[in-house]
Amino acid sequence: MEFFIDTANIDEIRTAESWGIISGVTTNPSLVSREEDDFFELLKSIAGFVNGPVSAEVTSSATNEMIEEGKKLASLASNIVVKIPMTPEGTAAVRTLSQDGIPTNVTLVFSPQQALLAARAGASYVSPFVGRLDDIGEDGVGLVRDIAELFSVHDLDTKIIAASIRHPRHVFECALAGADIATVPFKVLRQCYSHPLTERGLESFMTDWNRYRKNHGG
Ligand code: G3P
Repeated sequence: MEFFIDTANIDEIRTAESWGIISGVTTNPSLVSREEDDFFELLKSIAGFVNGPVSAEVTSSATNEMIEEGKKLASLASNIVVKIPMTPEGTAAVRTLSQDGIPTNVTLVFSPQQALLAARAGASYVSPFVGRLDDIGEDGVGLVRDIAELFSVHDLDTKIIAASIRHPRHVFECALAGADIATVPFKVLRQCYSHPLTERGLESFMTDWNRYRKNHGG
């Protein structure tokens, strides 16, 4: 499973990139709304330094408008992936964009049948929302597992991006469930590094090393 970062914040993307673990970025209108920059300038800038796909979401709801918006977004950089909501109008736009060679990410996926529809329309990626399903008492990771099985049984090459990741446990559970990618908020990525025994172990290695150096005239 690969890691994408789920943010539109340039500092967060640059920091996570510097850790050597990020292979793409996903954004959505809510994430973009937290930033000051102009949407198109922000995307161009992110796509310019990220070495991997950058998902940018359309905000219209009619098929033709989504296609037009998607083409405009895709023209900003070769690594832009057009994010389209899971609606009948959305799958129609996905079909046209994919026929034009523009990669798409179908978002707001909450059931295996929605994922299957998106894949059949030609989506490059589907994004099941794990945390939001858990929020209503359903099984978000179970959805990822079901979609992975469905795509495997039917030999579909649409990739699964586990989205709406809320905590480190979601990360490894989605990996075990067969997600190709998890798109993870900066805070959760940072949490994934953390373990008290790692921190305590590092501290005692450094204490011992410094004592050794002192005893050896270092
Ligand atoms: O990529 C979609 C994801 O950002 C949604 O996350 O936490 O708003 O449910 P959340």
